Amino acid sequence: MKKPVVLLLNGPNLDMLGRRDPAQYGTFTLADVERAFAAKCEELGVEPRFLQSGCEGELCHAIHEAMDYAAGIVLNAGAYTHYSYAILDALLLAKVPTMEVHISDVDSREPFRRVSVIRPACVGRVAGLGLDSYLVGLERLVREHVRPG
Ligand code: DQA
Repeated sequence: MKKPVVLLLNGPNLDMLGRRDPAQYGTFTLADVERAFAAKCEELGVEPRFLQSGCEGELCHAIHEAMDYAAGIVLNAGAYTHYSYAILDALLLAKVPTMEVHISDVDSREPFRRVSVIRPACVGRVAGLGLDSYLVGLERLVREHVRPG
């Protein structure tokens, strides 16, 4: 039987993990995140797809494409989280269950990071757990929205 697909979508500057502000983002790389995510997907019986882009339009396009194949999206939109109404609109139109994740504890940082304009289009949010934010977010998404009950 074909496994449901979950897209892991990372936004701007997340390709620089490992070199970017380790106090906030740790020393792991995006490849480490994707490896851990793939292992968790295997455990949960879903199939991962990956995309990282620093371009708002590419992220919107990836969300549109996900309508045709994905059962869920785990999204770290990076700074776009805080101001991209284009990504909000893409999520609202796609209606693919999406879990918002952040590596750092955005609510305890600068005031602009406390705002998430994409939040109303997401089924939940996990933040502040480092790499584990992705894995906890994936697990919640799959248990509650991809393979409920
Ligand atoms: C982030 C938090 C954002 O505020 C920031 O712009 C990022 C990463 C996080 O994972 O903690 O790029 O989404």
